[in-house]
Amino acid sequence: MNEIVIPVQLIEALKKAQRVAILTGAGISAESGIPTFRDQLTGLWAKYRPEELATSKGFQRNPRMVWEWYAARREKVHTVEPNAGHYALAELARKVPELTLATQNVDGLHQRAGSEGVIELHGNINRVKCFDEGLLVDSWNENQGIPPRCPRCGGFLRPDVVWFGEMLPDEVFEKAEYAAKKCDVFFSIGTSGQVEPAASLARIAHGIVITINLEVESLISPYRYNFNGKAGEILPLLVQKL
Ligand code: APR
Repeated sequence: MNEIVIPVQLIEALKKAQRVAILTGAGISAESGIPTFRDQLTGLWAKYRPEELATSKGFQRNPRMVWEWYAARREKVHTVEPNAGHYALAELARKVPELTLATQNVDGLHQRAGSEGVIELHGNINRVKCFDEGLLVDSWNENQGIPPRCPRCGGFLRPDVVWFGEMLPDEVFEKAEYAAKKCDVFFSIGTSGQVEPAASLARIAHGIVITINLEVESLISPYRYNFNGKAGEILPLLVQKL
């Protein structure tokens, strides 16, 4: 592993920051054993067709396959633990006056690491809702058929995640957008920035932008700090310097 150098000016800027806003993606959960989406080999979209599994049409075509795919991912999430990257962000929230954490991840690992008020831009795989009514359902029973049925209308149940072609819940994205516009420091962690509108947050971010990603970030500017490496290694190092 290359030595991680944290510039002094960045630490100074973080120590002075009143508002910090963060966007995370699948990369922050990779070290917990949750596959990312677009990694060439191990990424979910390298193995599966997103249009079949992560669209409303795909669900209508084959509700059983889609339900079982999410049930398997939900199972996986329950077998893993948050990693040092998740815990470092929970600790960072205790060190800065105001921190807003928005995630594209549906795994709930930020919350399990102790982060509060997490903005779930793409929903949460641990929740289920009615496909027809869109209302959340507290419990479901797979013994009565797959996908299980809505106790109110009898329609199919689906995971409470945002599928391609679907809008993000208005109030959810507006909160993340407001935080990005108002922050002194913005973190973009473990995301390929290929999915809108989440990717727009780094573009509208006010103040200093810090990117942490395995892939080299192309955008260079005096207000950007690009760290090329693992979030679970870089974030603890950065936070402990505060
Ligand atoms: N630390 C930091 N970055 C990492 C790590 C790591 N340990 N491991 C992988 N990465 C980087 C990858 O290099 C890649 O740039 O994380 C990024 C993950 O990108 P994607 O797989 O595209 O995931 P994400 O950006 O979260 O996808 C956005 O797309 O499929 C939809 O709804 C899904 O929320 C998801 C959205």
